[in-house]
Amino acid sequence: MTGLAAELSALARRAFAAEGLPEALGQVQASDRPDLAQFQCNGALAAAKIAKANPRALAQKIVDRLRAEPIFAKVEIAGPGFINLDLTDAALAERARGGLPKAEPNGKAVVIDFGGANIAKPMHVGHLRSAILGDSLQRLFRANGWTVTSDVHLGDWGLQMGQLISEIEHRGIAPVYFDASFKGPYPEQSPVTMDDLEEIYPAASAACKADPERLEEARRATAELQAGRPGYRALWEHFFDVSKVGLDREYDSLGVHFDLWKGEASVDPLVGPMVEDLKARHIAQESEGALIVPVAEEGDKKEMPPLILVKKDGAVLYGTTDLATIVDRVKEQDPDLILYVVDQRQHLHFEQVFRAARKAGIAGKATLEHSGFGTMNGTDGKPFKTRAGGVMKLFDLIAMVTAEADKRLSEAGIGADYPAQERADIARKVGIATLKFADLSNYRLTDYVFDIERFSRFEGKTGPYLQYAAVRIQSILRRAKEEGHASSAPVIRSPEERALVLQLLSLPEKMAAAEDNRAPNVLCEYAFELAQKFSRFYSEHHILSEDDADLRAARLGLCDVTLATMVRVLDILGIEVPERM
Ligand code: ARG
Repeated sequence: MTGLAAELSALARRAFAAEGLPEALGQVQASDRPDLAQFQCNGALAAAKIAKANPRALAQKIVDRLRAEPIFAKVEIAGPGFINLDLTDAALAERARGGLPKAEPNGKAVVIDFGGANIAKPMHVGHLRSAILGDSLQRLFRANGWTVTSDVHLGDWGLQMGQLISEIEHRGIAPVYFDASFKGPYPEQSPVTMDDLEEIYPAASAACKADPERLEEARRATAELQAGRPGYRALWEHFFDVSKVGLDREYDSLGVHFDLWKGEASVDPLVGPMVEDLKARHIAQESEGALIVPVAEEGDKKEMPPLILVKKDGAVLYGTTDLATIVDRVKEQDPDLILYVVDQRQHLHFEQVFRAARKAGIAGKATLEHSGFGTMNGTDGKPFKTRAGGVMKLFDLIAMVTAEADKRLSEAGIGADYPAQERADIARKVGIATLKFADLSNYRLTDYVFDIERFSRFEGKTGPYLQYAAVRIQSILRRAKEEGHASSAPVIRSPEERALVLQLLSLPEKMAAAEDNRAPNVLCEYAFELAQKFSRFYSEHHILSEDDADLRAARLGLCDVTLATMVRVLDILGIEVPERM
């Protein structure tokens, strides 16, 4: 997708080339001083160094060339040789007319690994952030033309599986799965429900903490499960199926969807061959009965422990399944990039995995990248918990933000006369916007405080404020339609219209910047500025009450483009706009 800055850069590059200077210097960007100019190009300074010329004199040559371009209203030298650029209003308006630029497929594929819930274990705020951030990134990469495959990568193969199995054995719930002489087939019906698992897991985990004997049993069960013991596999299938249904519903209530529901276990068939291969090539080596891949490199500032591939008891670990998952992804998607949207506290883990993958040469053409994030804290400064404390369920969290939104809507007198169903739907959308915008508007690596009181307000930098801004434009356009007013192409006649159009046209650059930094907060900022610029335009100009029909139509046209842009950006943030508020 190319934006205005890219279009201007192409012109400046041509001017530099025509002067026999490196094209790349013709980089144009939005001005640091919007009060002085719309765009700037700083390349003449670097060019002067290369050409050993006077920077202002050299800038003048570029300026002379650019002045010949009809798109510019102003081309000026500032300071030691910066070039300031303004476009004509006609050129700006014409570009706004085109509406939203569509991304061309960029021919690149990315696998985005996020969500990462664990079967039977409760979700925590890290999983919530991963879901919100990862989903926004998948929407952004798609919007920018990537082929995206998202994978929830469930934690379904670790010690918690052995803990569940041995706890079920202790309770005698389903003896058939433990009967070594049983030849199958095992019952189709799961012996446990999702609710059962939620009760069994904490009990199992507590038992293992209290009693080393029980922990040993759980370890053994894990190793036997991974080694393929049929009864354990059959039980595992049940755990997976009941959990998947529950988790899918929870993610769905957040508006988050995955292309793949794979997990650690799904690459089990690849683990054996991979381990053999790494052994044969001496990439893996024996150490105290375990099999490891040393990943320390010269110049490491911190200690870099080896990646443990297979433990003494034969069980594989988190790093092993992550390595095998890379093998799987290279085979299935052959991506250019694999992005792991996972808590920053796992950074060392990913560093080990990435190094091992590079050493083993299994990543194909893929760049491996960990896009970590900080913690969502409560107002008490500790990792956020729902009021009930402890176990966080997305349902409870969504109920909480929805109730808050409902309260705010009532206070603002919104929707009192709407049908109950619609009113509830609005509260849900506003509640989710509260949560998502709070999360996404902070740069991902910074910890932040989820202050529901602040983020649920209809004013300030909040999700509900942006929804409200979009709904307001929707209602202007609806009234225009009812009154029979058509819209036409936008025209710029005032500073407010010019500022709004410039903001609209800067979206492609912001989307590129958000992608480059894996940073949806760039788009949160963009959406907020857009709302403010629209608000200024709206308060300075008549729209529906404008008597001049041409002017009214042009302003309605600007409303059209603003609304489409706002909806588009909010969609990338995973935020829905209600019909009315
Ligand atoms: N299940 C893991 C956890 O709860 C997150 C998985 C992240 N993805 C990965 N490929 N390791 O911490």
